[in-house]
Amino acid sequence: MHLKDKVALVTGAAQGIGNACAHALLEKGCKVGLVDNNAEVGRESKNNLDKQFDTQRTIFIPCDVSHEEQLKDAFKKIFEHFGRLDIVVNNAGVNNEKNWEVTVQINLISVIRGTYIGLDYMKTENGGNGGAIVNIASLAGLMPVPFQPVYCASKHGVIGFTRSVAMVSKAGKYDVRINTICPSFVNTPILQSIEKEENMGQYLTYKEQLKDMINHYGLLPPPLIAEGLIKILEDDTLNGEVMKITTNQGIHFHEYGPSPFQPDKK
Ligand SMILES: NC(=O)c1ccc[n+]([C@@H]2O[C@H](COP(=O)([O-])OP(=O)(O)OC[C@H]3O[C@@H](n4cnc5c(N)ncnc54)[C@H](O)[C@@H]3O)[C@@H](O)[C@H]2O)c1
Repeated sequence: MHLKDKVALVTGAAQGIGNACAHALLEKGCKVGLVDNNAEVGRESKNNLDKQFDTQRTIFIPCDVSHEEQLKDAFKKIFEHFGRLDIVVNNAGVNNEKNWEVTVQINLISVIRGTYIGLDYMKTENGGNGGAIVNIASLAGLMPVPFQPVYCASKHGVIGFTRSVAMVSKAGKYDVRINTICPSFVNTPILQSIEKEENMGQYLTYKEQLKDMINHYGLLPPPLIAEGLIKILEDDTLNGEVMKITTNQGIHFHEYGPSPFQPDKK
């Protein structure tokens, strides 16, 4: 996809990986709808982007992605404001093992919902222009993570859903590519959550072991994840792929054997 003048919606865009993705999309000439439930940091981050990019090219929409009506409304506002939608980055996520239902709600259910709403706007059979959806999972979606079992489950869910719905999109000729990115640890505020009882609950006692794990893997800079996003968006051959980003190997893809059932090959 040629990115100039395309319209992207990025959830969790106020800070961290989402903010880096918004920045990279703007550098490529996109217009970006910034969606986040942290209105204060969200507005601040729009103001910062306005210093570098034309203020007309971003809009900030305060929205809790786990609230169905708010999420639908955010898509509607961004679509109506810019007149089209081409890219959705379902990035908003939390680490909460104490209120673990919230983790499933935000990290998995809202990603599924964001994908379906995105398809409603973009798929050609609905009069859309086609497009691309990128769901941010984690390396935790590909391996067990001690002391973060629900976070890990939510990310496994994102990968399974994304790979599967990508096959549906291809079979149904939606003209929407759907892929996922799995970074290792990234240097963002979410990592502070491992120090907090309100996030870790019963697993707080293992925080030193989690820190050892972070030291073992190292920390990635958020712009590297944005670079992975741009690679996926610009390469029209990619659908259903699982991009991994690690300190050792940089940007690369997880390799799976052939899927036993390929509906589009009938
Ligand atoms: N930082 C890492 O080590 C790492 C590694 C792999 C994957 N990830 C994933 O990357 C994504 C972004 O994480 P990050 O590291 O930038 O974290 P972050 O905490 O810095 O940013 C997350 C953003 O999402 C927003 N958000 C949280 N809940 C929301 C909700 N209900 N509605 C709307 N917005 C909401 C927050 O306000 C915040 O701006 C998450 O899905 C995370 O699981 C992070």
